[in-house]
This record gives sequence, C-alpha cells and structure tokens, in this order.
Amino acid sequence: MIEPFPSPWGTEVGLFQSLDSTSRYLWQQALDGAPHGSVVVADQQLSGRGRRGRQWHSPAGMNLYFSVLLRPRLQLDLVPQLSLVTAAALWKALSDDCLGLKIKWPNDLLCQGRKLAGILAEMKPGADGAEFVIVGVGLNVNAKVSDFPPELQGMVTSLSCECGKDFDLAELLQKILSELAFFEEIFYREGLKGSIRELINRNFFLAEKDVVINSGDHRRACRAHSIDDSGRLLATIEDGQKMAFASGEAWLEKGFYNVSGN
Ligand code: BTN
Repeated sequence: MIEPFPSPWGTEVGLFQSLDSTSRYLWQQALDGAPHGSVVVADQQLSGRGRRGRQWHSPAGMNLYFSVLLRPRLQLDLVPQLSLVTAAALWKALSDDCLGLKIKWPNDLLCQGRKLAGILAEMKPGADGAEFVIVGVGLNVNAKVSDFPPELQGMVTSLSCECGKDFDLAELLQKILSELAFFEEIFYREGLKGSIRELINRNFFLAEKDVVINSGDHRRACRAHSIDDSGRLLATIEDGQKMAFASGEAWLEKGFYNVSGN
C-alpha cells in the first residue's frame, strides 16, 4: 500500500484501497470545491472507466490508477490537449525504464505496439471555459500477462512485462506526478507548440503509418504523420488531400491490433 505523501501541487494525495473509479470519486470532490492539484489513487477500481464507455481492467495490488483535478482556466477547445500533455509527462517519467515507449494520439502509451497506459480527460464546462478537468491515468505496472483477461492478452503490456522486474508503485507515482506538474506549467506558458509537441512527435507511434481514423461519424483510411500545435493529427487521405483531425481514434490499417482499446 502507498504511504501518504504531498502532491507537487501542495495538496494531500487521497489514497484508497478500493474505489469504483478514481475519476468518478474526484469528480464529486471537485463539485464540492476540492482544489487544483487534488489527487486520488486507488489500489483497485471496481468499475474503472476508459474512453467511449469502455471498462478499464483494474485489479488490486499491481498497477497505478489515479486521477488529478485541474482547474486550468482553459478554453473548452483546448482541454483535449491536456491528454497529450499527460502523455508527454508519462513518457518522460517512464522512458528511461521502458525503451521503445511511444505515444499514440490522442491518449495512449504503447510499448512494442501494446497498450501500457491510457488517459481519460473529462471536463465540466463553465461560463468562461472549463470549470475543471479530471485527468485519469491507468498504468499497467507489475501486472503479468496472465493478470489480464484473455481477450486483452496480446494487446496490452506492463512495465514489468517489458523490463523483467517489478516497480515500486509509490516511487513511480511520485515521479509521474512531478512530471505532470512540470509539463502542465510548460503547457500553460506555451501551449503544445514548443517542447511538448516536439517530445510527442519524436516518440509518435502513428508516424508514417497507414491508419483508419474514426472521427465523429466518419471513418477514413489515411497515412498519419504527426501532431500540430493544437494537438490535431495531421494525415494524408487516400486522394492525397491533407487533413487535420481534432478528435477521434486511430487503428493501424493492416494491424490486427485495435491500438485504441484496453
Ligand atoms: C482509456 O480508455 O485508454 C483511458 C483509460 C483511463 C483509465 C483510468 S484508471 C484511473 C482513472 N479512473 C477511471 O475510472 N479511469 C481512469
């Protein structure tokens, strides 16, 4: 079990043995006035949620499941960029141990093409931009292949599977939160346009791959390139036209692996 420690935002980290979902719990705390930088961590989640109504498999005693409350005074259309900021912070915290770590637009970390971590940013709109954003992170740390449901095996991985050793969850969490606070500051100062965008594009899983992008009700086959200053995925569609996707999911066209799922 992780011992209590202060977060880089000066708040106390809320540690729970079991929650239905750290993001759901923190959302309620946010409605009750919890401050910027509040963090909630659970050893297990009974109903961890992923993007698009999916579940996040959250067994006890092996992985990190946490959520951070941000009150960033951001325009609504800039909020999705916080997923990429979080992905960059995770990459920085983990890439020394996990060689070949890649960021997949818009919100995943993959190692050897398998999903290592997922990010879910949920926001409450206010009169003047976002009232708050809850950034939830699920990171597979010490899980072994057999700890994942059979249907996920082959599509997911953990730090332990990649590195052949176990990790101290508390140490790892503190490192990730420090990087997140650091990258968040950079983002508020300069947006994605400087070092964050560069980091992502240097370690971009989709770069020059053929993908299918599901955006709104459109499905398009394209060649993915990179992300731009607004976090949009730049791609070339089949007739050679350049496109910029602000949101969506991407699948490798010829891969068996749905790179967006957990
Ligand atoms: C994804 O679909 O890839 C995003 C998964 C996000 C999972 C994390 S685990 C901690 C936080 N609490 C939740 O219920 N979900 C997020």
